Amino acid sequence: MAALLEIEGGVPLRGTAAVSAAKNAALPALAASLLTAEPVVMENLPLLADVTTIRRLLERLGAQITDEPDRTTHIRVPAVGRPEAPYELVSTMRASVLVLGPLLARTGSARVALPGGCAIGLRPIDQHLKGFQRLGAEISIQNGYVEARASRLKGARISTDLVTVTGTENLMMAAALAEGTTVIENAACEPEVADLAGLLLAMGAKIEGAGSKRIEIQGVPDLGGARHRIIPDRIEAGTLLVAGAITGGDVTVTGIVPAHLSAVVATLEEAGSKLDGGPDWVRVEGQGRPRPVDVATTVFPGFPTDMQAQVMALLGLADGLSRITETIFENRFMHVAELNRMGARIRTDGATALVRGVAHYQGAPLMATDLRASASLVLAGLAAQGATSVSRVYHLDRGYERLEVKLQRLGARIVRRG
Ligand code: EPZ
Repeated sequence: MAALLEIEGGVPLRGTAAVSAAKNAALPALAASLLTAEPVVMENLPLLADVTTIRRLLERLGAQITDEPDRTTHIRVPAVGRPEAPYELVSTMRASVLVLGPLLARTGSARVALPGGCAIGLRPIDQHLKGFQRLGAEISIQNGYVEARASRLKGARISTDLVTVTGTENLMMAAALAEGTTVIENAACEPEVADLAGLLLAMGAKIEGAGSKRIEIQGVPDLGGARHRIIPDRIEAGTLLVAGAITGGDVTVTGIVPAHLSAVVATLEEAGSKLDGGPDWVRVEGQGRPRPVDVATTVFPGFPTDMQAQVMALLGLADGLSRITETIFENRFMHVAELNRMGARIRTDGATALVRGVAHYQGAPLMATDLRASASLVLAGLAAQGATSVSRVYHLDRGYERLEVKLQRLGARIVRRG
């Protein structure tokens, strides 16, 4: 039987939780190891299903990966075998497309399955492909695969039509080994982009402006090995803060970069929680019933789409009407139906969800549909009266390292079954 989480709600969470390394920084960092034959050492890879998936893909591409007793992971790609990312892997994790840029730069060719859509939307990669073409690659689509060829990538000015996080990361990795200068305009400013640039710089790349909308990359002939510590996961941190707020508890998340969470902290304050912070921690104290708040997801440093489902669970208990607008993905309200089964009163109208707060949720048997939706169902279960079960927990395990253990340590009555 597939694993499920069983939750007995109503316990105010109290205590301190240390946050794991960021999934969305670990994935591009692992892909970057394809850019060199030298060893790359990652200090703190999170134990996540998506990390396991990309490790398997890298091994198929010729990577030798070992986990050392000191919790570091050593990756070496002495040579790339067949530069191909097969459909059965890409279809389980869209972020596999992050090997496209490194394979093109390292070997001059790549064959990567087009990612299908996923629960939250179509999620095309046209911006990635247009960028590679600007760098001189020949791109064709054959039988659901992207075929990319480039004898030598040449630096270019690239202006993406929309902000894309992995698109920016893919193009930055390809440009690192291109001939000449590349400028990426309209680049994503998410902290994970700057973290990847930090690794590339340590490998010998010449990059300026990562983390801003304009990134300039001077191509170099080759890159060396490096040692890298991945930034903490701002979305896990935000999720744990919402857990403290929604249960009316008192939770401190540590080992974080507060600046990566400013929009989430501001929204929690607006919703009535008491927030405090220091150099590497943030503390939330729930103050009774949340107040309604209007939220619109946007690119960093605005409110992150990856926190939308979690904050909806909180606002579902507010004493009034909140409007939540999802501007990044076209179908990221899969959690609404399940929250409504717990007594929430949420109506969606296109990209906007109208959340009419209720006094409490009733526990219920629930089913997860995607990573952040499953987190929002767990949060609602923690606040609900009675018992809640969340099935298809594999969605949660893609992006949270033993979330139920972190929550248990804060006093939650939550167990994993099966
Ligand atoms: C990254 O996905 C994250 N994943 C996502 O986190 C996150 O939600 C998203 O950025 C937005 O912040 C990783 O970093 C591995 P995008 P990504 O390209 O790069 C459209 C999670 O829960 N688009 O910034 O795939 C796209 O359809 C995951 O951890 C194009 O149209 O997102 C979307 O609507 C979910 N063409 C929007 O742009 C393209 O070529 C933003 O996508 C690329 C994107």
